[in-house]
Amino acid sequence: MIEVHDLTKRYGSHLAVDAISFEAHPGEVVGLLGPNGAGKTTTMRILTGFMPPTGGTARIAGYDVMADSLEVRRRVGYLPERVPVYPDMTVSGYITFWAKLRGVTRPRAQVDTVLERVNLTDRRNTLIRNLSKGLRQRLGLAQALVHNPEVVILDEPTIGIDPQQVIEVRESVRELGKNHTVLFSTHILSEAEQVCDRVVIINKGRIIAQGTPQTLRAQLQPGVALYVEIGGLGKEAAARLLREIPGIESVERQGDGFAVRAGGDVRPALSDAVLHTGCRLLELRPVAMTLEDIFLDLVGREN
Ligand SMILES: Nc1ncnc2c1ncn2[C@@H]1O[C@H](COP(=O)(O)OP(=O)(O)OP(=O)(O)O)[C@@H](O)[C@H]1O
Ligand SMILES: [Mg+2]
Repeated sequence: MIEVHDLTKRYGSHLAVDAISFEAHPGEVVGLLGPNGAGKTTTMRILTGFMPPTGGTARIAGYDVMADSLEVRRRVGYLPERVPVYPDMTVSGYITFWAKLRGVTRPRAQVDTVLERVNLTDRRNTLIRNLSKGLRQRLGLAQALVHNPEVVILDEPTIGIDPQQVIEVRESVRELGKNHTVLFSTHILSEAEQVCDRVVIINKGRIIAQGTPQTLRAQLQPGVALYVEIGGLGKEAAARLLREIPGIESVERQGDGFAVRAGGDVRPALSDAVLHTGCRLLELRPVAMTLEDIFLDLVGREN
C-alpha cells in the first residue's frame, strides 16, 4: 500500500512536486504518467526514502518514509531510472550482493528464485558488461525484487529497450501487480493504459487527473467528436454550413471530410441541415478520442 498526501518537493525555489495526493493498493498497478520534468522521479525518490519531501506525507505499507525509513526500505523495491551496475560482477554475484545488503535471510535460494522470475537463470554467470540493455533492465528488476518487497516502484522501466523487451517488461509489471502494490512511471500514454489499473497524470509537479483509463476517458473527453463527409458541396461552403449548426464547436478539414467537435449529440441537426441544402451526407461517424489525445490536450492546456 502506498499513501501519498499533499506531498511537496522544492529544489531551491523550483517547485518540482506540488501537493500531490494519491494511493496505490495491494494487487494494483498505478501508473504515474507525465512528460519530462513532471516530477515522476522526484516523487519516486521520496517514496523510496532516498530524499526527504519539503512537505506532506508519504507512507509505504503503513510506515512513514521519513520517520520509519528503515522499515520502508525493507518493504519497497525500487528500479531507478538509471540502474547502477558494476560491469565486472556476474549476474548472480550482483543480485547476491543486493540480497545481503538488504538482509535477506537465505540469500542463495532467494537469488535463484528471483533470477528464475526475471528469466535470467541461464545468464547467472555472465558478466554484467556483456548484458544487452534489455537484459540489464531485467537485472535491475531482479535487484528490486530480491527481498520480496510488498511495494515495487519502477521508474520508466521500458525506456531505451527494444520493442520485444518492452513487451516483456510490460508483462512482468502486470504479473507483479497480481500480488504486489506497483507504482510505475512512464511518459507513454498507451503504455499506462495497457499496464495500469489506475493512472495518475502529473504535469509540472501537479496532478491534473487520476482514475482508471476508462473513467479518465469518459470524464475528460470534451464533448463529442464526429467525422463528417458531405457530397455535392464545395469544401468552403460545407465548412460554413457545419459551423452554423447549433452545438458545433469546431470544424476542421480532415481528408475528404471534416473533424467536428460538439457539446452534445448534433447528429439529427447535422443530417437535417445537410439534406435541407439538397446535398448528400456521405459519412457521419463518431470518432473515439484516444487517451493520447486527451493527455496531449490536458498537458497542452496547462502549458
Ligand atoms: N536534484 C535536482 N535539483 C534541482 N532540480 C531538480 C533536481 N532533480 C530534478 N529537478 C527538477 O525537478 C523537476 C522534476 O524532475 P523529475 O526528474 O522528477 O521529473 P520526471 O517526471 O522524472 O522527468 P523525466 O521524464 O525527464 O524523467 C524538473 O524540472 C527537474 O529539472
Ligand atoms: Mg524521471
